[in-house]
Amino acid sequence: MRALTYHGSHDVRVDNVPDPVLRHGQDILLRVTATAICGSDLHLYRGKVPGLKDGDILGHEFMGVVEEVGPDVTRVKPGDRVVIPFVIACGSCFFCERDLFSACETTNDGRGAILNKKSLRPGAALFGYTHLYGGVPGGQAEYVRVPMANTGPLVIPDALTDAQVLFLSDILPTGYQAVVNAQVGPGSTVAIFGAGPVGLMAAACARMLGAARIFMVDHHDYRLKFAADTYGVEPINFDKVDDPAEAIIEATQFRGVDASIDAVGFEAKGSTVETVLTTLKLEGSSGEALRQAIAATRRGGVVSVPGVYAGFIHGFLFGDAFDKGLQFRMGQTHAQAHMPALLERIGNGELKPELIVSHQLALGDAARGYEMFDKKQDGCRKIILTPGSNPLPA
Ligand SMILES: NC(=O)c1ccc[n+]([C@@H]2O[C@H](COP(=O)([O-])OP(=O)(O)OC[C@H]3O[C@@H](n4cnc5c(N)ncnc54)[C@H](O)[C@@H]3O)[C@@H](O)[C@H]2O)c1
Ligand SMILES: [Zn+2]
Ligand SMILES: [Zn+2]
Repeated sequence: MRALTYHGSHDVRVDNVPDPVLRHGQDILLRVTATAICGSDLHLYRGKVPGLKDGDILGHEFMGVVEEVGPDVTRVKPGDRVVIPFVIACGSCFFCERDLFSACETTNDGRGAILNKKSLRPGAALFGYTHLYGGVPGGQAEYVRVPMANTGPLVIPDALTDAQVLFLSDILPTGYQAVVNAQVGPGSTVAIFGAGPVGLMAAACARMLGAARIFMVDHHDYRLKFAADTYGVEPINFDKVDDPAEAIIEATQFRGVDASIDAVGFEAKGSTVETVLTTLKLEGSSGEALRQAIAATRRGGVVSVPGVYAGFIHGFLFGDAFDKGLQFRMGQTHAQAHMPALLERIGNGELKPELIVSHQLALGDAARGYEMFDKKQDGCRKIILTPGSNPLPA
C-alpha cells in the first residue's frame, strides 16, 4: 500500500510499504477514506520529537471503512464507516475506567513520554507518534491496523460527510476539552493563544458553550481574520501588538479574562534568546505562549493547555500564577470521552468543523501538504488527504 513515511527533519514521502495485517483479537483493518495533517505532526516534521525511525508511518487523524475484524471485536463489523480517536486505549484499566483514556496504562509498551521518571508507567499509545508513544503505524495511509477496536472507533451515520466528522479523531475533542477544562460557560471571557486548527476548534466550542468574549492571539492575519469572521473572536496580532496580554487586561477592566487557552505549545514564537536556548536544548520548551496565558488570566482564573510541551521551561512565572491563584489544566486529550456527544452536536448543526478545511489533497501530495501547512502558505488552515485518487464524497 501507499503511506506517508518519515525520513528525517523536513523529509516525508509517500512510499510503498507492506500492507498491515491483524495481530491481536481486538484489531481491525481500516480502509482509510480521509486523513488530516495535525499541528502535532509538524513537531515531528521539524524533527523536534525524539523516537522516530526512518520509514515510520505518520498520521493520527483518520477515518474510513472497516475491512476486517479480529475474533474479539464486538463493537464494529466489516463495512461500518468509523472515525478513529488518536489515542489508543483499552477501555478497562485504572485510567480508562475513569474516562482518562490518554492515560491508559496498557497500550504503550514503549518507554513512555516522561523521560526522567523511569518508574512511572507510560500513558496511552498514539497512532503514528514515535516509539515513545508505542511506535504504532499511523493512518496517513491507504490502510491501517487499529488496535483496541472495542474502545476507539465511533460509527458514523451515512448522512454526515467525511469532512464533517473527520476532526472527531483529534482536534475537535481537543478544542472541546480545552474549553471544558477552562470552565467556559455562558458569559465567560476567554483568551485563546494560537489560531491554528486547535485554537479554531476551541473558539468554535467556546462560542457553542456561550462565551461572551473571545480574544485570539496569533501573527497570521489570514487565520485571525477567519476566526473573527467565523467565530466572532477579537483578533490580536502579536507582530503588531507588543504585549497581547497587556492589551487583553486593558480590555477587561484591568482584571484579565476568566480563562486562557494555550493552543500553541512548545514551539511558540518567542524571543530570539529563547529560540537559541531551545535549539541548543538548554531549554526544553519555549515558554512564550504560556507566559502570555498566565499574564492574561484574571485572579482565580484557569489556564488550560492543549498545546504540547516537552521538558523544562526556565521562564515560568510560578510566582505570578500563585499570586493570582490560577488553576492549570492540561494534557493529551481523552478523545474517546468526548466523541459521542460531539458527534451529536455535529449532527444537529451546532458544530461545523469542516469550515476550517482550506485544502483537500490526494495522499500522494502529502509531502507538499506538510510543507504548505508548516510554512503557512496559500492561506493554509487545515488539510484533508484522501488516499487513492478518490476525491471526498460531497
Ligand atoms: N493536547 C492534545 O491532545 C493535542 C491534540 C492536537 C494538537 N495538539 C497541539 O496543539 C498545538 C496547536 O496545534 P495546531 O494544529 O493548531 O497547530 P498550528 O501549528 O497550525 O497552530 C499553531 C498556531 O500558533 C501560532 N503561534 C506561534 N507562536 C505563538 C505565540 N507566541 N502566541 C500566539 N500564537 C502563536 C502560530 O502562528 C500558529 O498559527 C500543537 O502544539 C499541537 O501539538 C495537542
Ligand atoms: Zn493531532
Ligand atoms: Zn486503559
